[in-house]
Amino acid sequence: MVKTMQSKGLQLFILLSVISMASCKQEVKKDIVNEELEPTGYYVEPYRSQYHFTPEEKWMNDPNGLVYTDGEYHLFYQYYPDSTVWGPMHWGHAVSKDMMKWKHKPVALFPDEHGLIFSGSAVMDHNNTSGFGTEDQTAMVAIFTYHDMAGEQAGNKDFQTQGIAYSLDNGDSWTKYEGNPVIGNTGIKDFRDPKVFWNDKAETWTMLLVAGDHLQIWNSPNLKEWEKVSEFGKEQGAHGGVWECPDLFPLKIEGTNEIKWVLLISINPGAPNGGSGTQYFIGDFDGETFTSDQVEHKWIDLGRDNYAGVTYNDAPNDERVFIGWMSNWDYARDTPTDKWRSAMTVPRELTLRKVNDDVLLCNYPLKSFESHVAMAYPESVLEILPTRKRIMPLKYGNQSKIQFTLSVPNAQMYFRNKNGDSVSIDVDRDKKVVTFDRRKSGKVDFSEKFAPGVQQMKIPSIPDGPIEIMMLLDHSSLELFINEGQYVMTNQIFPNEFFRALTIVNNSENELKIEDFTEHKVERVWD
Ligand code: FRU
Repeated sequence: MVKTMQSKGLQLFILLSVISMASCKQEVKKDIVNEELEPTGYYVEPYRSQYHFTPEEKWMNDPNGLVYTDGEYHLFYQYYPDSTVWGPMHWGHAVSKDMMKWKHKPVALFPDEHGLIFSGSAVMDHNNTSGFGTEDQTAMVAIFTYHDMAGEQAGNKDFQTQGIAYSLDNGDSWTKYEGNPVIGNTGIKDFRDPKVFWNDKAETWTMLLVAGDHLQIWNSPNLKEWEKVSEFGKEQGAHGGVWECPDLFPLKIEGTNEIKWVLLISINPGAPNGGSGTQYFIGDFDGETFTSDQVEHKWIDLGRDNYAGVTYNDAPNDERVFIGWMSNWDYARDTPTDKWRSAMTVPRELTLRKVNDDVLLCNYPLKSFESHVAMAYPESVLEILPTRKRIMPLKYGNQSKIQFTLSVPNAQMYFRNKNGDSVSIDVDRDKKVVTFDRRKSGKVDFSEKFAPGVQQMKIPSIPDGPIEIMMLLDHSSLELFINEGQYVMTNQIFPNEFFRALTIVNNSENELKIEDFTEHKVERVWD
């Protein structure tokens, strides 16, 4: 009897152990599955960019106040700390030594009695023209647009004015100027996004301001008193939407001593592939007036997700450093991320290049990007017969830099995953066009405007001979650079799984040679 009870007890013990082991096993398995679907931890949520800047949480749009000082790049940005959709604007803040690894800082500028804090710029007032600085500390001065929500809702037109604030601890704490606004409004509905820089030609501060359909240029000796000196653009450039986020800077044409001035103007809507886009003008600036005889419209990026980009003041090594908001007002509020919304492009250097008879503004990842690129896999030369294809397995498909040269005029490249999602890029040098198709790239139905059709980029100045292709894949973006930034397409994508292969199809009559094919892992920048 005792023996039977003992053996029954043993059986029960074994049964319970098996059950508990089984449930333990199940637990572990469940965790692994959940981990894959919804990873947890710092900066690892679904679609979280691993090497592009995103705010820790909540809504972000335009980069603001880009200024370099004391070894650090400051990135301020349009930020709404209470929601993942646009709302009352603040300036968020982060700093970086190389523009790849960022350190988050407290919110810099809060709305006040004059209104919300819209886009703008920042300068280091080295000569203390404003009087805000002290003997030991140069003032960082932010120049921004005040947006008076009540005024707008009341149907007024003068609800945007310009204000300034200063910081004596490199952007950690701010004091608003008591004389704000420094530029009032005389009835222009869209009057915003001041970009200020030190103007060597006129020995003055210069402010670029957009006023609906044109640019205004204002000068000031001290950042407080401003005088309008010229206008540009009523009759020039694309006008499918309101002009926003201007920038103006000199660049030397590569390989020459010729200097041209470049004006950036973002417009929304009215971009060639729909919604928001950034056009540029090449011309001259005499210290007061910008002129350009450019007739055709030129765009810095023909993808759909590079908007409101501007450049750094005081960047080292004479580099013209650009960063853009990697989204589009057509669907920015709807993208399928939970905790935060949207990312910035990788930092890019802007250069001017003469190609055939044309001068193009090129944008290509900053040199510091390369120090975050890890091992290469593999490096090879491939030959593909006409009409045939080659499937290249990707090792780091979610977080990689893929680079190669294409020898023939026409080729199609597409990424595919096991889920059947795909992104296709078709280079047709006969027709001089690149087509980017993200219609089946994964989650696309969060907005009808995300992928209503394919995107097209004209490449009129593409030279004969091999072309260089570079693609940067992160968890929710694909940036395509042709010939070192001569033509660029930046696009968000939301695949259901990572891409594990790149297929290259030869659409030409000759054998396709792919040289120096490499896939590099790009390191995650968040600790
Ligand atoms: C551009 C823009 C700016 C404005 C800001 C508001 O995306 O519309 O013109 O200052 O966003 O958040």
